[in-house]
Amino acid sequence: MAGNGVFAEILDGEVFKYYADGEWKKSSSGKSVAIINPTTRKTQYKVQACSQEEVNKVMDSAKSAQKLWAKTPLWKRAELLHKAAAILKEHKAPIAESLVKEIAKPAKDAVTEVVRSGDLVSYCAEEGVRILGEGKFLVSDSFPGNERTKYCLTSKIPLGVILAIPPFNYPVNLAVSKIAPALIAGNSIVLKPPTQGAVSALHMVHCFHLAGFPKGLINCVTGKGSEIGDFLTMHPGVNCISFTGGDTGIAISKKAGMIPLQMELGGKDACIVLEDADLDLVAGNIIKGGFSYSGQRCTAVKVVLVMESVADALVEKVKAKVAKLSVGAPENDCDITPVVSESSANFIEGLVMDAKEKGATFCQEYKREGNLIWPLLLDNVRPDMRIAWEEPFGPVLPLIRINSIEEGIHHCNASNFGLQGCVFTKDINKAIMIGDAMETGTVQINSAPARGPDHFPFQGIKDSGIGSQGITNSINMMTKIKTTVINLPSPSYTMG
Ligand code: G3P
Repeated sequence: MAGNGVFAEILDGEVFKYYADGEWKKSSSGKSVAIINPTTRKTQYKVQACSQEEVNKVMDSAKSAQKLWAKTPLWKRAELLHKAAAILKEHKAPIAESLVKEIAKPAKDAVTEVVRSGDLVSYCAEEGVRILGEGKFLVSDSFPGNERTKYCLTSKIPLGVILAIPPFNYPVNLAVSKIAPALIAGNSIVLKPPTQGAVSALHMVHCFHLAGFPKGLINCVTGKGSEIGDFLTMHPGVNCISFTGGDTGIAISKKAGMIPLQMELGGKDACIVLEDADLDLVAGNIIKGGFSYSGQRCTAVKVVLVMESVADALVEKVKAKVAKLSVGAPENDCDITPVVSESSANFIEGLVMDAKEKGATFCQEYKREGNLIWPLLLDNVRPDMRIAWEEPFGPVLPLIRINSIEEGIHHCNASNFGLQGCVFTKDINKAIMIGDAMETGTVQINSAPARGPDHFPFQGIKDSGIGSQGITNSINMMTKIKTTVINLPSPSYTMG
C-alpha cells in the first residue's frame, strides 16, 4: 500500500513529505495541499506545501551535489540508474495504486506506466554510456586557409540543475523521462510533480533514494503552483527546464531566462481517413487512440477527418466498439474512468454543449456522473464548433466529414497545435505525401498517434512544444558541447 513498507518514511501522519538533500522532510510552512481522488471526489492524500525558502535551499543543495556528480564516472552513474530501475519495478504495486487513486488511471495501465518507466531508466543508462562516452575530433585544414595546426576535441558536458515538471497524466513516466537523461548526463534534478500525481511521483523518487544516489542530487518539492510555480521556473539556480503540460508552458517559456527549454504542451492530433483505408483497423485505432485513459493523453486522437464516402461505414464501426467500452472505477480496470478533476469535466461538458447547440450529431447519449463522462463520438462536427479545435482531454471525440484530402490537411494545419497526426490508407505514396504536408512533429501511418516506444524522437511544432524528447534527444538536450583545441607549433599530417 502507498506510504507503507519501504515507503513508510515518506509519510508523516497523513501528509507525504518532500525530498531534499537526500532526506524526507516536513515543510516548515506547516501547510499541506490536498489531492482529490477523481473517482470519490474526496481527499485521498495530502502533500507538503513547500515554501520559497525551502525551494532556495533545494536549489543550493542541487547545485553542490551536481558538481560532485559530474565527476562521477559514467559507468557508475549508469549502474545507479539500473539499480533505481530495478527497485522501481519491484515496487510497482504501491506506485500503481497511487496512480489509480490520485489520477484514476485504470489499474492495469497504472502498472504498465511503472514498468515502462523502469525500462526507460535502464535504456537511458545504456544509451547514455554510449553517446556520452564519445565525442568528436576535428582537424583545422578542412577549412580554407588553414594548415593542420589545430586539433579540436569535443565532448558533452552537463548543464547543471534541471527543473523537471511532468504532467498529471504520466506523473511517473514523464518524470523519469526527464530525470534519467538528466542524471546520466551528469546533471542534478529538482522535480516539481503535478499535485494530482504527486504521491505516485514521491514513491518513484524514493526508489531513486533507495538506489543510493548522492544527497541533494535528486530533489522533489511539492506545493501550490501559485506559491512556488513561478518562483521555481524563474529561479536563477535553474539551468534547464523540461516541462510537459498545458499552455502554462507558453507562460513559462516567456518568463524563463536564457536557459535551454524542453516543452511538450499538448496536441489536437488529427486522424485522416482515406477512402481505401481498412476501416476495421481505423475503428480499432480510433478507440485506442481516442479513448484510452479517457482521452487524457497529449497524443490522443482528437479529431477524425474522414472522407464522406466512407464516413457512415466508419461511424457504425466506431459506434459498435464504443458500446463495448466499460465505464466505471479505475480499480475495476474500466476502459473509461473519471477525468482528473471537476473543472476538467466541466470544461469537457462545455465543449459538448457548444457542439450540441451548433448541431453536431450525438452518436451516443451524453452522460456524466461526477467526473465520470461516458465515451462520446460527435459526428458532423463543423469548423465553427469549439471541439473542432480545442483539446477536450476527455472521452469525447469529434468527427469531421471531408470531401478532399486537401480539406483534411488544411484542417490539421490550421490548428495552433502540431504534435502528432495519423493517416489511414493502403496507398503508401499518398500516405507519404499527406504525412509530409501535415505540420506535426510526428505522423503515424496506419496507426494512432503515440509517444512510445520511449526511445523514439518525440516533438511538437507550433504551440505543441519546443525541442525534441525521446531518450537520445533528451540526453543531448541536457548537455552542452565543450571543445578543447590543441594548437601545434607547426602543421602535422598523419602519415605525412
Ligand atoms: O500526454 C503525454 C504524452 O506524452 C502522451 O504519451 O505514451 O500516451 O503517447 P503516450
